[in-house]
Amino acid sequence: MSADTPRTARPRHYLMCRPTHFTVDYSINPWMNPAKPTDGDRAIAQWERLHALFLDLGHTVELIEPTPGLPDMVFAANGATVVDGTALVARFRHEERADEAPAYVEWFRARGYRVQQAEFTNEGEGDYLLVGGRLLAGTGFRTDRRAHAEAERVLGRPVVTLELVDPRYYHLDTALSVLSDTEIMYYPAAFSPASLKTLQELYPDAVLASAEDAAVFGLNAVSDGRRVVLPEAAVGLAGQLRARGFETIAIDLTELLKAGGSVKCCTLELRAAAE
Ligand code: ARG
Repeated sequence: MSADTPRTARPRHYLMCRPTHFTVDYSINPWMNPAKPTDGDRAIAQWERLHALFLDLGHTVELIEPTPGLPDMVFAANGATVVDGTALVARFRHEERADEAPAYVEWFRARGYRVQQAEFTNEGEGDYLLVGGRLLAGTGFRTDRRAHAEAERVLGRPVVTLELVDPRYYHLDTALSVLSDTEIMYYPAAFSPASLKTLQELYPDAVLASAEDAAVFGLNAVSDGRRVVLPEAAVGLAGQLRARGFETIAIDLTELLKAGGSVKCCTLELRAAAE
């Protein structure tokens, strides 16, 4: 596909969580250094811009109330995976985040979603990414491989298991991003040789990110099919996307990157039941 490829945006329904209690006071991934100060006001201001941007783009954004003492709750993508009105709620790998799960259960129940509490460890859309009808599923650091079969059963979509091998890219959404119902972009070195082969077979013309763009979380992006919101430091990747006919919107979320998250981590897609 080229720069002249016509692309259509589909309005999305997102769930986000204001970083009211954001800080880095523990470390569960290589980006998190509790000795390095965070600026809470700056985190909120950056997040507010992302929130406002989604509204400007015509998307619907709902909010979940942040819980004191859960500084990573801003990363709403990890709360669940929502397909056809069914919310498969996360079961977090680390104790530090475990209490986020009941907050999501409550949120989804109160809004009439079918709620499934997970049997196996999985971190929601951190590791599950829906591409058209197929669910790409990460494992290696957070989500248990056994959770993949559970997701396939609960969400009714065929699952493709992908193994992550670089601890800096501990969630699938830090190494791979969905651009449209048929297209993805990813950082090849984040995957095991077998998983890389799977990706090459399924998506032969995927956009491949450089090490530099991956390291600024360029792949932690959100696309509505035409417009891709991504971290502003990922300039190479933005150019590659524009050459494919995507519009790119750069945003600064560097305060949240101190916890190992960016655009996609803050954004959970809510997919309603088919009418
Ligand atoms: N500090 C959080 C963690 O390590 C960051 C989560 C980022 N979220 C994501 N979807 N990748 O769990």
